[in-house]
Amino acid sequence: MKISCTGKTVLVAGGTGGLGRGVSLAFLEEGAKVIVTYRNETEFQALKAAAGVQVAALEGMQADVTDASAMDALIGSIVGRHGRLDVVINTVGGYAGGLKLWEMDPDVFERMLDLNLRTGFVLAQAAVPAMLKRANGAIINVAAKAAFDHAAGASAYAASKAAAVAMMDCLAADLKGTGVRVNTVLPSIIDTQTNRKAMPDANFAKWPKPEEIAQVILFLASDAASAVHGASLPVYGES
Ligand SMILES: NC(=O)c1ccc[n+]([C@@H]2O[C@H](COP(=O)([O-])OP(=O)(O)OC[C@H]3O[C@@H](n4cnc5c(N)ncnc54)[C@H](OP(=O)(O)O)[C@@H]3O)[C@@H](O)[C@H]2O)c1
Repeated sequence: MKISCTGKTVLVAGGTGGLGRGVSLAFLEEGAKVIVTYRNETEFQALKAAAGVQVAALEGMQADVTDASAMDALIGSIVGRHGRLDVVINTVGGYAGGLKLWEMDPDVFERMLDLNLRTGFVLAQAAVPAMLKRANGAIINVAAKAAFDHAAGASAYAASKAAAVAMMDCLAADLKGTGVRVNTVLPSIIDTQTNRKAMPDANFAKWPKPEEIAQVILFLASDAASAVHGASLPVYGES
């Protein structure tokens, strides 16, 4: 299915990361104006280079997505300059695991909540009022299979992702009938450079590529998904 995003303004939080980069490029490819948040200037320059002729439609803002006032300012400036914010995708997140709950540094617990839960809260608080004004918008939050699959050694990570799913479910209920839709995608293992380095003996062919997950996110952001609201979609590939 061909999905056009011409005329749409899309914010991809973490848009230079392993998954975020694929998402940013997919929306640029379909004609969207894409604003990414990033932390590392080199990653942003690499995204610009990969964007090719679509680079003119790409903007970047170095920002901490856990910082509510920074996200308020960013979304205010997007709406001020472009007159609209159609789609927000949160690809910021982090993983920590391998230790039993009582062995874990409490700072790790806080970091998981910040990256995997607080980012979605802060972005939604900043973006929803602007979307409600136009009675239109789509929010896609990236959680993880671990939100439902609660394994040993993953207490903080799984709890933060499960809470993110619960929060998006509640937000979807809050937004029923407003024209603003909210959905979650649940990756298992993504075929990123980081994962290839961490698991060199794995069968990479079984892992979905960022571009494949980006196509699901494109669909969820599009009018073709007008009936999909409050869903949590597995994007596991064959893993
Ligand atoms: N990779 C997987 O196999 C997998 C599996 C299940 C779920 N997920 C989820 O999918 C999402 C994307 O994962 P990924 O593999 O693409 O991760 P990633 O490569 O680490 O990308 C995340 C991006 O967010 C940025 N970021 C981190 N903290 C930030 C903050 N406070 N403010 C702004 N930006 C921040 C990172 O910047 P830095 O590079 O500077 O840290 C990075 O660019 C995450 O929610 C992750 O939990 C991934």
